[in-house]
Amino acid sequence: MKQDFAGWRKAVQSEMEALLLSHLPKADALPKRLHEAMHYAVLDGGKRVRPLLVFAAGELFDAPRDALERSACAVEMIHAYSLVHDDMPCMDDDDLRRGKPTVHKRYDEATALLVGDALQSQAFEVVAGGGLDALRKVAMMSCLARAAGSRGMCGGQAIDLDSVGIALSREQLEQMHRLKTGALLEASVMLGAMAGKSLQDSEAGALHAYSASIGLAFQVVDDILDTTADSVTLGKTAGKDAANNKPTYVSILGLDESLALAEKLRQDAHEALRPFGHRALRLGELADLIVQRTT
Ligand code: IPE
Ligand code: IPE
Ligand code: MG
Ligand code: MG
Ligand code: MG
Repeated sequence: MKQDFAGWRKAVQSEMEALLLSHLPKADALPKRLHEAMHYAVLDGGKRVRPLLVFAAGELFDAPRDALERSACAVEMIHAYSLVHDDMPCMDDDDLRRGKPTVHKRYDEATALLVGDALQSQAFEVVAGGGLDALRKVAMMSCLARAAGSRGMCGGQAIDLDSVGIALSREQLEQMHRLKTGALLEASVMLGAMAGKSLQDSEAGALHAYSASIGLAFQVVDDILDTTADSVTLGKTAGKDAANNKPTYVSILGLDESLALAEKLRQDAHEALRPFGHRALRLGELADLIVQRTT
C-alpha cells in the first residue's frame, strides 16, 4: 500500500537533510566561513517543495534513486542561492528567512554573495556526477541552467526589481512570476522525469502543462501569504511586498480574485495530470499542497 502523503512528505524532507549534507563541501573545509555559511543557508529549513516535485515526477518514470537524489539536491541548492541573494539589501532587503537571520545578517554581504555563487556551482557539480549516461546529464544540466538563468529565475528577479512602484499589467505580472518562480519549479518536475525513461512528446506536454500551472500558483500563493500570514508562521517578514512597493497578485487583482486564481490553477494542474491516471497521485497531492499551504 502507498504511504500517505503526509508520511511521504516528511520522509523526503528528513532524507533531504542528510542528502544535502552529503552533497555539500564539509563545513570545516577551507574556507571555513564560506562553507559554514553555505550549510547555514541550505540545511535545517524550508519546505523542500522542489525536491518533492523531483521525487514525485521521477517515481512516475522509474528514475534511478541516485539520479533523483542528485537532482533534488541541485534544485534545492539553486533555490537556496536564489533566496540568499533575494534577501540581500540590493534586492528585497530582508532580515529573516526560514525563521533565522538572513545570511547577510548572520554573516556579511560579501559572504552572502559568495554563498549564492558557490551554491549555484555546487548544484551543477552534483548533477554532473553520478551514473546516468553523459548525454542525459548534459540535457538535465541544460534544463537546470536555462531555468536558473536570465530567461528563467534571474530574468524574473530582474523584472521584479525593475517593477518596484510600477503598476504592471496582468500579463506582465504573470510573465514575471512564471520566470522568477515558475521556471525552477518546472525544472524540478522535468529533471525528475528526465532522470527516468525517455519521455514521449505527449508525456512531456502534460508535464509542462502541469508545471506551468503549479509554477504560477506557487508565486500567487506566496503573494497571498505575504498579506494574510504572520512572520512567525512564514519564517520570513510578512507584509514585505507592500512595504517594498512590489506589484503582486494581491495588489493587482485583490485577495479574493487571487485566491480564486490559485484554486483554478490547482484544478488545471490536476487536469493536466489526467493522462497519467493514478500513477500521478503524488504530483496531484503536491499541486494541492502548493495551493492550500499556510506557510
Ligand atoms: C520562497 O520559496 C520564494 C519563492 C520562490 C516564492 P519557498 O516558499 O519554497 O521557500 P522555502 O524553501 O520553503 O523556504
Ligand atoms: C522570490 O520571490 C523569488 C526568488 C527567490 C527567485 P519573493 O521575493 O516573493 O520571495 P520571498 O517572499 O522573499 O520568499
Ligand atoms: Mg523578491
Ligand atoms: Mg523576497
Ligand atoms: Mg514573496
